[in-house]
Amino acid sequence: MTDKKASTDYPIHDLLAERWSPYGFADRPVAQTDLRSLFEAARWAASSYNEQPWSFLVATREDPEEFARLLSCLVDGNQGWAKAAPVLALGVVSLRFSRNNKENRAAVHDLGLAAGNLVVEATARGLCVHQMIGCGKVFWHYPARRARAFQYWSHWPLSWSATRFIIPAAWS
Ligand SMILES: Cc1cc2nc3c(=O)[nH]c(=O)nc-3n(C[C@H](O)[C@H](O)[C@H](O)COP(=O)(O)O)c2cc1C
Repeated sequence: MTDKKASTDYPIHDLLAERWSPYGFADRPVAQTDLRSLFEAARWAASSYNEQPWSFLVATREDPEEFARLLSCLVDGNQGWAKAAPVLALGVVSLRFSRNNKENRAAVHDLGLAAGNLVVEATARGLCVHQMIGCGKVFWHYPARRARAFQYWSHWPLSWSATRFIIPAAWS
């Protein structure tokens, strides 16, 4: 749990009240076991037709090359503070059903639900997530993703979001 808690009008669960989006980080890696549990939580989110249209690109600072690649997808304003996080992740969503290529109007909603699951799991483990939409250069750095997703991109640019995880720093 974090030491920061929302002052709510009505009682809500601590896991919701203690979630927040910090700009500072402890210089401490996130264990692989924790990371895997976060994405397992995301995997078990509800989705329209059980399509599970999301996927995540993840890089830790233990892999400097991949970390730099993922970081460089972010707009400069977000790179400035996000580079201090031990883990970066990018949420990706397909806007068409895999089985018939028809438009999935719930896809972005479903990515949001998966992210919500992940954030709750992170909070329960004492981790923080600061989500970001400011990531404009994804296809440049991940050209294979462009090949798969380009047809959807022009319809809904908000289909991409970035998520980062941190251990709460000594934050006042
Ligand atoms: C989809 C989404 C996109 C966001 N994009 C950014 C961003 O690009 N840069 C940033 O600093 N914060 C971003 N945020 C964080 C919000 O500004 C933050 O959640 C909001 O101010 C509420 O603060 P809290 O999360 O600490 O309660 C984003 C949050 C969400 C959910």
